[in-house]
Amino acid sequence: MPGPKNPAKIVHSVRFSIQPGGALRGRIRVPGDKSISHRAVMLGALAEGTSEVRGFLEGEDSLATLAAFRAMGVSIDGPNDGHVTIRGAGLQGLRAPPGPLYLGNSGTSMRLLAGILAGQPFDSTLTGDLSLTSRPMGRVTEPLTEMGAKIESSDARTAPLDIHGGAKLQGIDYRLPVASAQVKSSLLLAGLYASGSTCVTEPVPTRDHTERMLQGMGYAVKRGGATVCVEGGGSLQAAKIDVPADISSAAFFLVGASIATGSDLVLEHVGTNPTRIGALNILRAMGAAIEIGSTMEMNGEPVSDMRVRAAQLHGIEIPVDQVPLAIDEFPAIFIAAACARGRTILTGAEELRVKESDRIQVMAEGLSTLGIDAQSTPDGIVIEGGSMQGGTVDSHGDHRIAMAFAMAGLKTSASLEVLNCANVQTSFPNFVGVARSAGLDVAEVYDRN
Ligand code: S3P
Repeated sequence: MPGPKNPAKIVHSVRFSIQPGGALRGRIRVPGDKSISHRAVMLGALAEGTSEVRGFLEGEDSLATLAAFRAMGVSIDGPNDGHVTIRGAGLQGLRAPPGPLYLGNSGTSMRLLAGILAGQPFDSTLTGDLSLTSRPMGRVTEPLTEMGAKIESSDARTAPLDIHGGAKLQGIDYRLPVASAQVKSSLLLAGLYASGSTCVTEPVPTRDHTERMLQGMGYAVKRGGATVCVEGGGSLQAAKIDVPADISSAAFFLVGASIATGSDLVLEHVGTNPTRIGALNILRAMGAAIEIGSTMEMNGEPVSDMRVRAAQLHGIEIPVDQVPLAIDEFPAIFIAAACARGRTILTGAEELRVKESDRIQVMAEGLSTLGIDAQSTPDGIVIEGGSMQGGTVDSHGDHRIAMAFAMAGLKTSASLEVLNCANVQTSFPNFVGVARSAGLDVAEVYDRN
């Protein structure tokens, strides 16, 4: 079988070892939202005044963003138990970093920073691990270049990105060729430094945390239909930001509790922004028993508790309009599909092939190892629900694939080993502890290479 397209760099050899059976019960709070944590640091650093962030995700990805802004002279305390204090430097206050900014595995850091750095007076270089430096960056460098940015990348239009300072940016009207919140956000952030207005039109809605946080920090954002615009030359005001629990991390537990007989689990304080709830909609369409508690609003973001109980799932044709709203949750949804009655068909999801790994290929391989009929297609997958056997699957260094297969261990007929799980640290540092507390019999094993 061919290997994954973007194998991530494997730093240590960490394996999850799962004993099958059991149920997920009780109350848990998964870590802070990764997308919102990145943006809190970025916009807090560019604001006037001191921002206080609570519930910040202390994962490697958001820490990479935090380290990048420290390297550009921004004074940041923490994180200390999710609390970060950022003394904003203002939009014009960043300083040249002493060397290349290393962003690890984090696509969000690289694409959003590219937009911010395109508008600075100094030169900078963005780089990352083997996975990140294999991912497509032309989707940001091309429109940023159209705005007047000077950016060099590899011939394959991948990182490292060399961004030349002092470019005069002008606003553009840009229609996104792919539904990507990272590209939209990159252009809006560059738009803060551009003359005139920068407008981005998306083919289908994608997560809108950047727009909400800009508005929450007093920056005018015009939204109309599928188009969002900012005018350059404004300023951002510091804010208190409470980061909700990440629905993308909650998704593993929504699936685990749905498939494991006898489960009844409450997930506390989860972000339920309508641009992020595709997994909820898809799992419910498959028959999942998920209740959403009363919703409150924190910094313009809706937040609710969720209760999930075991249910018999059935296969569905996943509606294409849900794909961008569930883009990070497909590894977990594929495990739900493997445990469902009947066939689940996903189309319109070619973006999954350029995430931290080729998630279609790597998931199809792992599911096949567990005895599930999973056929990849160019833009999706067809999964026949069935019984999963034990065995050894390789996450290929992709955090979400590692956690999705860990949940599969609730239903395998024998023990399950998941290889190359070190990158779970990028988004869910205490995954094993939280999963064990809920009832998953998982151990983290460190193997010598
Ligand atoms: C993110 C957007 C998504 C998502 C990623 C985080 C963001 O990527 O997969 O994990 O924070 O904007 P795309 O917008 O490129 O699909």
